[in-house]
Amino acid sequence: MTLEIGKEPLDLESVDTAEVAFDEFCGALDARNMKGLWTRPELPHEPIARTLPYHWSWETVAPLVKRAGRVLDLDGDVGQRRALQFCNPGLQAGTTEALFGAFQYLEAGETAPAHRHTPAAIRFVLAGSSMFTTVNGDACEMRPGDLVLTPAWTWHDHTNYGDQSVIWLDVIDVPLVATLESVFFEDHPRGMQEVLGHNISERRFAAPGLHDTAPHPGDSGTAASPLLRYPYEQADRMLDALHETHGGPSVTFEYRNPVTGGPAVPTVTCEMIRVHPEGPTTPWRRAGGQIYSVLRGRGRSIIGGTEFHWGPGDVFVVPSWVAVEHEAAEEADIFIGSSRATLEALHLYREEQLTAQQEVVGQFQPLSRNTDA
Ligand SMILES: [Fe+2]
Repeated sequence: MTLEIGKEPLDLESVDTAEVAFDEFCGALDARNMKGLWTRPELPHEPIARTLPYHWSWETVAPLVKRAGRVLDLDGDVGQRRALQFCNPGLQAGTTEALFGAFQYLEAGETAPAHRHTPAAIRFVLAGSSMFTTVNGDACEMRPGDLVLTPAWTWHDHTNYGDQSVIWLDVIDVPLVATLESVFFEDHPRGMQEVLGHNISERRFAAPGLHDTAPHPGDSGTAASPLLRYPYEQADRMLDALHETHGGPSVTFEYRNPVTGGPAVPTVTCEMIRVHPEGPTTPWRRAGGQIYSVLRGRGRSIIGGTEFHWGPGDVFVVPSWVAVEHEAAEEADIFIGSSRATLEALHLYREEQLTAQQEVVGQFQPLSRNTDA
């Protein structure tokens, strides 16, 4: 319907003013589930993260992961995944504001059944071999340091076909998608998918710039990368080459969609940093929380003035807009999952290089949680 010029859709002039005192006025708003914007805190000049800088050491977590294999049956009480989530003490739910990290564990010969969901996930392998994750029929082999994508709404199941247990880091955007009230989930009707082949997606991108032109039924149909597996051998070569080119105490690359050049998963930026024992890295602060997973090497990070010591298998968190710098005691490779991709897509991303190294004002101390939200 088109409004006629000069005719108001609502007649505000004829509305009677509520003749109430200010306190009663505020109560009347409350009673109608309304609130004056002036009662809210003013918007901060820069992000104030609820996410806390935090650290989970392999020494304290790995024995519990092994125990989980004994006390939690994948066919029974666990449900579909034996995953132990990293719960940030500053948050009701999440490792960061947008992402959950978890260690997922499969014992020899175990499988985790196929399902799909709108939250997107990545898997970064920490230990074990002889396993694959099948993504829309493509069985992606998983070895330590490999990255495997399970983009939104792709069928995925996990298989350990070896005689040793396996563990990998999950990073999934559940907190983001749940905040948007857009979580959908579906079990596969046959329990496990049919395997159409192994490492199919890699054969389509055998070298940079070469692109298979045939249609592919396994494609997710989203902006996620059609390349589903990024082997560690290639990451290792890349980091060597970057260090040769740039030098310095660290080099970083991002795992990207080889067709569009965009992030590997639209909501999760995936990176790997190699820190060399050549002094501290330049401190930065970035919008969006980051989850770090140490593959190899030892060192320390200063996060918002607090010192964190880390080694292989450790996981730690850098909150949004909190300064971070690293220093390796021995050469270290660390996977980083962050919400930068989401912020960039929304034109909200910012980062800033700091001009001075941070002063260390304290050591990391673990906190106990009173609830298991
Ligand atoms: Fe899943």
